[in-house]
Amino acid sequence: MRNDIIHPGAGELTYEIREIVEVGLRLVQAGVPVVWENIGDPIAKGETMPAWIKEIVARTVAEDDSSYGYSPTKGLLATREYIARERNLEGGVRITADDILFFNGLGDAISTIYNYLHPKARVLGPNPAYSTHSSAEAAHAGAPHLTYRLDPARGWHPDLDDLRAKILAHPGVSGILIVNPDNPTGMVYPEAVLRRVVDLAREFGLFLVSDEIYSNLAYGEAPHRKLAGVIGDVPGIAMRGISKEFPWPGSRCGWVEFYNRDKDPAFARYAKSVNDAKMLEVCSTTLPQRVLPQVMGDPRYYPYLAGRNARYKEKSDLAHGIFSRVPGLLVHKAHGAFYMTVLFKPGALRDGQSLKPMNAAAGEIIRPLLGTPHRDKRFVYELLASRGVCVVPLSSGFNSDLEGFRVTLLEPDLGRFRDVMESIAGAAREYLA
Ligand SMILES: Cc1ncc(COP(=O)(O)O)c(C=O)c1O
Repeated sequence: MRNDIIHPGAGELTYEIREIVEVGLRLVQAGVPVVWENIGDPIAKGETMPAWIKEIVARTVAEDDSSYGYSPTKGLLATREYIARERNLEGGVRITADDILFFNGLGDAISTIYNYLHPKARVLGPNPAYSTHSSAEAAHAGAPHLTYRLDPARGWHPDLDDLRAKILAHPGVSGILIVNPDNPTGMVYPEAVLRRVVDLAREFGLFLVSDEIYSNLAYGEAPHRKLAGVIGDVPGIAMRGISKEFPWPGSRCGWVEFYNRDKDPAFARYAKSVNDAKMLEVCSTTLPQRVLPQVMGDPRYYPYLAGRNARYKEKSDLAHGIFSRVPGLLVHKAHGAFYMTVLFKPGALRDGQSLKPMNAAAGEIIRPLLGTPHRDKRFVYELLASRGVCVVPLSSGFNSDLEGFRVTLLEPDLGRFRDVMESIAGAAREYLA
């Protein structure tokens, strides 16, 4: 090439959650039956879409030709009005339909909001990090993602001293990201903590980003609070979607809500640039927007979510009991989303640990991969080859300096769920012995 055509952030684009699948698929060919515990798609894990939601979608497809057309750039007005009305009923910051912008899934929203930030403006995110945020933010800056600690010794709550120290240490920090409920830890930000994050943003003139894709999937004792309820006059962006809630990840439908654009001209200009970027793309998927108010406004919707939440809670309690009994592991119950992070205690992982592969071919497939410097990733490969369970390592999968792995709470069959968790726990016990 005559010129360097590679983006300075190209090396930051990693998504271990899917990359590990390639290894898993090779193991399947080698005769290892693989249980996919890596991906957060409830449908892929066997959860079923309720018949009444399917009926709404089917009726819309059959009777509403406009569902095949483009929608306005920001999204269908009636849908945005519905969302704004529901948001305002909850109290907190008030919005109008104009403050809402639809995307082709939150993945699209995430890459757009970082892409159109000033290249030197950084957004500080949690560690462990959901990699779509951390990779997109790092790629935008052409530098590693900056993080604040979620503290495993305190139920994964954010370390506010670390957050303040990082804001002070990096003058480029212009925003703070929270993922609430969190992926990968299942932690729900306590209200007092949220308020202190908002205070820090106010003190330092920062904006907030709150990924709330799991906000209706919370089942802890303390209620989940959305950013809108605590943000006051600080500029912010909340992100929501239907991928996990309906669950309809294949619809590629999510939206952002801009808060307090009128309080800061630079934030308003930035929000306009995000909107203008969407305009170049024309619009986002129409059909899911068309059905959204019908589904969310149906009296069956919240009872349906309550049923799912009760099952996630049951599985979180069960997995917590199973992993807590393994010396060398640290685990907290999930309070939201459908993930749990299992941590290796310091010193638990050492060189020379291994598990017997299911067959010789499986051993050959993972052997060249075991040179990775990430010891938790080595365990993940060994687990895959010996038990046929595919989980995601914390270090390389979630941009973390901690060692562990993420499991999901999605398996609908409780007996099978227990077996898979027992199988992982048994492997960890043997590996760490
Ligand atoms: C925290 C979080 N945000 C966003 C997304 C992306 O969702 P979407 O399907 O809307 O792109 C995910 C998907 O796993 C997620 O876990």
